[in-house]
Amino acid sequence: MIPDLSVSIGKLKLKNPVILASGTVGYGNEISEFTDLSKIGAIVTKSVSLKQRKGNPPQRIVETPAGMLNAIGLANVGVEKFIEEKIPFLEKVNSTVICNIAAGSIEEYVQCVKILDHQEVIKGFEINVSCPNVKEGGLIFGNDIEAVRKITDRTRNATEKPLIIKLSPNTSDIKLFAQAAKSAGADAVSAINTLVGTSFNINTRKPKLQNITGGLSGPAIKPVALVKVLEISRNVDIPIIGIGGIMNWEDAVEFMIAGASAIQIGTVNFINPNAGMEILDGLTDFCTKMNISKIASLTASYQL
Ligand SMILES: Cc1cc2nc3c(=O)[nH]c(=O)nc-3n(C[C@H](O)[C@H](O)[C@H](O)COP(=O)(O)O)c2cc1C
Repeated sequence: MIPDLSVSIGKLKLKNPVILASGTVGYGNEISEFTDLSKIGAIVTKSVSLKQRKGNPPQRIVETPAGMLNAIGLANVGVEKFIEEKIPFLEKVNSTVICNIAAGSIEEYVQCVKILDHQEVIKGFEINVSCPNVKEGGLIFGNDIEAVRKITDRTRNATEKPLIIKLSPNTSDIKLFAQAAKSAGADAVSAINTLVGTSFNINTRKPKLQNITGGLSGPAIKPVALVKVLEISRNVDIPIIGIGGIMNWEDAVEFMIAGASAIQIGTVNFINPNAGMEILDGLTDFCTKMNISKIASLTASYQL
């Protein structure tokens, strides 16, 4: 038996549940030499904003014992260059493309979605309301239920394509944010973005990151991400994309059991840019061994 790995995230259909996370593969171009993008479930682009952003000054990345801190600050080429220079590449890779959007105002989110909605290759939008590394927008939105509701509602009106709201873990009660996204018309939520952290150089006594704080990702955040997925799954009826510290197929299975319909991999791409393919092989073997004919049946199959 060859297991059926296809999954649905609301109206978005994917050939398998393995998605490359925003900010860790550029616009697909940064990883295409090392893995087969046509086999992966979907690629999420680096966050795109209306205007080009330089991001934060270096140092922007610090290794941590089980992951990394980043304070990239949403450096990206901006909508115009994205269309001119990155879309042609994405049109060739034969993968499902989800475009991640970041903005400093609700109006900017809406404008970005409206401009990009015409691009055939974009099969859905992931709205980043949760980046911890920028002064305006980002966490301010991600921490404010009313703002999340408004951003969802306004971007919903700007597109009929699948709309995914990427939630922050840096909130007291993530399920309320998932509920707000659902009630304003989101097709799905993705959880989680990075956790705020910092790190000091003990000789200079200065923070290692110029930005002082950064977003923690990698294996260190996996248990936190899992419990956020579980909390949403137990309380809100909305498809969830699980993200946070997924390094291998076992982690992916765990996230699906906790409630995820699909998963994203981020930090692991920097260690092994072919990790997505290896996770896919592992998932296929696991389903075969366990007699699971449809991987989608794993979603929220927890026995509490
Ligand atoms: C270097 C780096 C850049 C990132 N940039 C973005 C971004 O532009 N937009 C976004 O929504 N998330 C961004 N993220 C967050 C990831 O998409 C993901 O949510 C997070 O890293 C947790 O997953 P992981 O532990 O598998 O890396 C970035 C993460 C890293 C490590």
